Amino acid sequence: MRILLTSTQLDEGISRLSESVRQQVGRRPLTVVGVLTGSIVLVSDLIRRLEGPVRVSMVWASSYRGTATRPGSLELRLDLLPDLSGQDVLLVDDIFDTGRTLEALLEELRRRGAASVRSLVLLRKAGRAEVATQPDFVGFDIPDEFVVGYGLDFDGAWRHLPYLAVLDETEIAATRAGLDAASLHDAVRSTQADLPPGPRA
Ligand code: IMP
Ligand code: MG
Repeated sequence: MRILLTSTQLDEGISRLSESVRQQVGRRPLTVVGVLTGSIVLVSDLIRRLEGPVRVSMVWASSYRGTATRPGSLELRLDLLPDLSGQDVLLVDDIFDTGRTLEALLEELRRRGAASVRSLVLLRKAGRAEVATQPDFVGFDIPDEFVVGYGLDFDGAWRHLPYLAVLDETEIAATRAGLDAASLHDAVRSTQADLPPGPRA
């Protein structure tokens, strides 16, 4: 596993994002709508930086099936949403890849009578967009590689890492081959123990 963004870099990114959001929205109350499950870490860090009144709600979206690293069909669940009429909404997702998730969710939220709907993502992958929509706020532009950590998973694993890492082909293959999570976790940890001190997060 190669570290792409350390927890310090992520932290600085969240500060920049929260400042940009407040510059645009001012001190008006903001309804943050996070996209489960990948945005949980981002939402929890972001809302503690967004000064001024904030409400939080979650929707669920999934376009990945198990050990695939390319999106499948999109599934959405919006039944946890409160009444959004008249509210300033900020849709928050972990990563903008093809953009299909964000585009579909923005359309759903706009139909619910919000005063405004903006979107924020921590990451945007280069050269992958399949939609015309772009997020209003982007934390980091990253290369087209499969990343995990800080909320993002591969087949349900690695969301808990405090940094963002690129999963290499061996790790993807090991997961696909059914290597159990504990052995894979130990294997990755021993790889990291060999790394020189540095951007380890
Ligand atoms: P999109 O609809 O193609 O933009 O996909 C967005 C969703 O795909 C994100 O919310 C993530 O859940 C997932 N995704 C895309 N790229 C990655 C990645 O590199 N690692 C983990 N999840 C990803
Ligand atoms: Mg997601």
